[in-house]
Amino acid sequence: MSTSQGFYRSRIAGTGSYLPEKVLTNKDLEKLVETNDEWIRERTGIVHRHIVAEGEYTSDIALKASHMALEQAHKKASDIDMILFATVSPDQVMPNTACVLQEKLGARDCMAVDISAACTGFVYAMTIADQFIKTGMYKTILVVGAEVLHKYVDYTDRDTCILFGDGGGAAVVTRATDDQDSYVYSSHCHADGSIGDLFVLPAGGSKMPFTQQVLDEKSQYVRMKGREIFKHAVRTMSQCCDEALKANNITPDDVAWVIPHQANVRIIEAVAKHFGIPMDKVVVEIEDMGNTSAATVIVAMDKAIKDGRIQRGQNILLTAFGAGITSGSLLLRY
Ligand code: UT7
Repeated sequence: MSTSQGFYRSRIAGTGSYLPEKVLTNKDLEKLVETNDEWIRERTGIVHRHIVAEGEYTSDIALKASHMALEQAHKKASDIDMILFATVSPDQVMPNTACVLQEKLGARDCMAVDISAACTGFVYAMTIADQFIKTGMYKTILVVGAEVLHKYVDYTDRDTCILFGDGGGAAVVTRATDDQDSYVYSSHCHADGSIGDLFVLPAGGSKMPFTQQVLDEKSQYVRMKGREIFKHAVRTMSQCCDEALKANNITPDDVAWVIPHQANVRIIEAVAKHFGIPMDKVVVEIEDMGNTSAATVIVAMDKAIKDGRIQRGQNILLTAFGAGITSGSLLLRY
């Protein structure tokens, strides 16, 4: 469908998701650090997370999710014009994981790039996909959010190791036709590097290449100021959602489902309260997967589509925040 400005509209034609088989429960974590199931459930909402098997990589998770998304969209790998792969846990630094996925999928020569925006990665990637469809440059874009985060977590640090897990999801974004009541309204992305030190993974880049000292100081693992991130998470996601609703003259009552980044159920509840949106209109899947960074929003969305909560024609509001600090929202008519 072309808009009044002469652009095309993009829509999500299919989704897929995959969580690895192996599960790490709160009880398992009790054996590793001084914590307990009750504390983790009450403070985060997490009961277990999924962990990849030996030899299973971020691209493998993405491959499974992408096959499902392509099937639902009635598209073949050869139809893909671009692959956008949101991740902070790529298979390796180079080549990018989008190219690895292209090869595994058997997709043809196309633009394939990783998007690094931490937990906001999927919303950022969807925003980029939407623009490429709007201009008419591409017709079919594979947008992935997938992570293997457990390898970046110090299992002696109870502040972080209880939170993160592995998993991924994919969406096939296509040009909407005139008869489809299904499109992206708008997206609203932000970044505030001035508070970037709240959540970091210090080593592995050119600033701190791997040395024995890095390993001794455990700088290959994430470091987080949890309480401060909590406040910024509520503030930024609330602001991004406000923007999305205002830009489209839509009220919270017009929104069927909010799908927030699944980092902590208390953050999600605070954002819902900000809008006066009841929790039964919020997709919460954190119990089963923990924080899977760029994957949470698309995995939660896919689960809600597959179990029938999300229906075609509904207004869906995606929102996320993450290291950077990045944040964003994307309002769509599914
Ligand atoms: O995608 C973005 C990634 N990061 C986040 O989203 C993190 C956002 N922040 C959070 O989710 C929460 O701040 C946490 C779950 C990380 C922590 O919850 P909190 O309610 O903010 O706890 P707290 O840091 O204020 O700690 C409260 C108490 C402390 O003990 P004292 O000082 O009151 O005696 C902690 O030492 O809980 C203690 N504590 C734990 N106890 C049992 C901290 N971690 C644990 C633990 N098990 N795993």
